[in-house]
Order: sequence, then C-alpha cells, then structure tokens
Amino acid sequence: MARPLPDIVPIPWPPGAASPPEATEAALERAATLLADGGLVAIPTATVYGLAADALDADAVDRIFAAKGRPADNPLIVHVADTAMARGLAARWPDAAARIAAAHWPGPVTVVVPRGRRIPDVVTAGGGTVALRCPAQPVVRRLIAKLGRPLAAPSANRSTRLSPTTAGHVLDALGNRVDLILDGGPCRCGIESTVVDCSVEPPRILRPGPLARETLEATVGGPVTQGPVVEGPVTQGPAADGRAPESGATPPRSPGLARRHYAPQTPLEIATDAAARVAALVRDGRRIAWLTARTTDPQVRGLAGSREVIVVPMPEDPVAFAACLYATLHAVDRRGLDRVIIDAPPAEERWRAIADRLSRAAAKPAG
Ligand code: TXA
Ligand code: MG
Repeated sequence: MARPLPDIVPIPWPPGAASPPEATEAALERAATLLADGGLVAIPTATVYGLAADALDADAVDRIFAAKGRPADNPLIVHVADTAMARGLAARWPDAAARIAAAHWPGPVTVVVPRGRRIPDVVTAGGGTVALRCPAQPVVRRLIAKLGRPLAAPSANRSTRLSPTTAGHVLDALGNRVDLILDGGPCRCGIESTVVDCSVEPPRILRPGPLARETLEATVGGPVTQGPVVEGPVTQGPAADGRAPESGATPPRSPGLARRHYAPQTPLEIATDAAARVAALVRDGRRIAWLTARTTDPQVRGLAGSREVIVVPMPEDPVAFAACLYATLHAVDRRGLDRVIIDAPPAEERWRAIADRLSRAAAKPAG
C-alpha cells in the first residue's frame, strides 16, 4: 500500500507569549517523536523550508538523501538550538565563527567549521568540516531543544529544483517522502542562508545569501573573501584512499553550488533587454511569464496586453524581491508556460545573492 501523504500542522507561537499554545506544543512533541524514531520532518526556517532528520543518526540522514534524490557528495547543514550546541559539534571553534554566531545567530547565516567526532560521515559527505546554523524561528529551536539533538536539514525540495518557501511547496515537491510537515507560514527571507567557511583564514563566502559580505567583514573585523563561482557539478567526496581527511584539511568548497540549481520546471532566461526578448518569443508563438519591476514602462504595458504574456510585477528592493522570488516561480511553474523571462538584476552587491540564484536557475540541464 502506498504511504499516506503527510499531515501539514501549523505551529504558531504568538510573539510575546512565554510558551507556545498547547496545540503547537503537541505538534512539536509529535515531530520530536518522529525524529527520534529516524523519521523525516519538514521544518520552517526564516530562509526556506528544511527537510530535517536527527543529524547524529546516519540512517535517518541517509533517508534525507534518498527523499531529495541528492548526490551523496553534497554535505548537509546541521541546525542547532544555540551556540553551545554548535560548539559541541565542532572540533575547533574559530574566532570568525564565534563572532558571526554572537552577532547574527539566530539568523540566516551558516558557518563551516572543523568537524567534531559526533557528526556521522554521511552528513559531511566524508569531509573534514561541518556546516552549522541556528535558525531564527523560536519554535524550531524549541523542537531541537526538545529532541536534545541537532537537525540535519537541506532545503525541502528535490535536488536541483526550486527551494520551498511554504508548507504547500514542500507537499508538492516531496509528497509522501516526508513524514510530517510543520507549517510556520511563508518564509521571511525567501532565499537560502549565507554560507561562510570559517575553517580557512580569511573566512570565505561559499554561498551568497541574506547576510551581506560587508556586514560579515564588519563582524569579523577583517576581510571576508567571496568564493569563485563553481562551473559545472563539483564532485568532492572523501580522499582517494577512502578515509575522511583530517579535521580542517578539506579544501574549501560548497558542492551544492553546482551550476544548475534552484531551477523551475519552465525554462528560465535572464534578459538584459527583456522587452525585445519577450516580443521575439511572442512572434514565435511562445507563451511567456515576464517577471519585471518595470510595470509602468509603456513597452511592458504594451506586451502585457498580449494573450501570450503574463507580466508578473516584482519588487524593486532586493530584500523584498528575494522574499517572493521562489514563491513567484513556483506559481508561474503551475501555468505550464513555454518560458520565464526575468529582467537581469542590477550589478550591485545588494543583488549578489539573487543574481547567484537566478544564474543557476537559468543554467541548462547537464547532458
Ligand atoms: O537557508 C538554508 O541554508 C537552508 C535552510 C533549510 O537551513 N538550507 C539549505 O541547505 O539551503 P542545502 O543543503 O540546500 O544547501 C546547503 C549548502 C550546499 O551548497 C552545501 O554544499 C553547503 O551548504 N555545505 C554543507 N556543508 C558544507 C561543508 N561542510 N562545507 C562546505 N559547504 C557545505
Ligand atoms: Mg538546497
């Protein structure tokens, strides 16, 4: 018999209340029991929804890889309730990690540090470092504290696809591959956390995200470098002799920065002259969604009148843009159109994380 679809359970915790309502507490108990039994629970975070398992249970973590169809060489982020829990999972707690955690946790930044012995190989893909993050949602930290163990959680989507920013997106993407979905409403940031490798000196941003480089430089009191854009899939497993490298000996990397990632089903194109591109595609009989902030532009209004084009207004501010980007792409994907055209984002540091996600979403499938 097919496994049933998971329940979607809301977990409100009104600001100011000392403890969550009874129903939320009961949902957290249920989630903690599932996790303790090796199950998979989708959790809300302020960035995107995560697919969580007990990070110290290698069999449970294996299930995450299977549910996502994720290559085994792509390590997972481990979510902690607080800095003390993070330190207990690290072989060394570099000064940069200490400063970033003190200033920005709970929050949308992940630190990569030398891996402690409690972390199973499957979590780090055999590497000598572990990625740690303390999520902003108090209710998720309460779940972790209740379980008394950290949660390994990648974004709750199938590998290379769009990340989920609502509980409904998780259900659509994973269906009965997940045992329970905790619903915390739409994610506030809407794109994945900034990942900073603190096992190297100076620290290096492996994935740009909501927390900007200049903020991180102010926090660590020195330079923070930006990792090169990885072209093509990166394979980086254990050393050739099959042994895990010494702690901190692994070269900095972020295998999840594969060239194609975060992709909608509908082919997506970034256009510097979107009006011309949309007009050309319409002449070819294509049906288009055009994501643009220039909704008052006469050219845009002209094309919006055509039956082949849906104009989707996007915010001009990068923070607001990030918050609705994936939800917009999920919605557009359901229309079964031929193409998504999106205006090229401004070449400014504030838009870096968005430019990164869009360029990966636009990359052609391998092969
Ligand atoms: O906001 C987020 O970070 C979300 C929420 C659920 O926490 N999580 C997320 O996880 O985006 P995932 O697995 O989709 O992306 C994790 C990224 C990948 O690019 C992965 O390669 C990288 O972090 N990563 C994980 N462990 C690493 C390590 N030890 N060294 C370098 N990169 C690592
Ligand atoms: Mg992901």
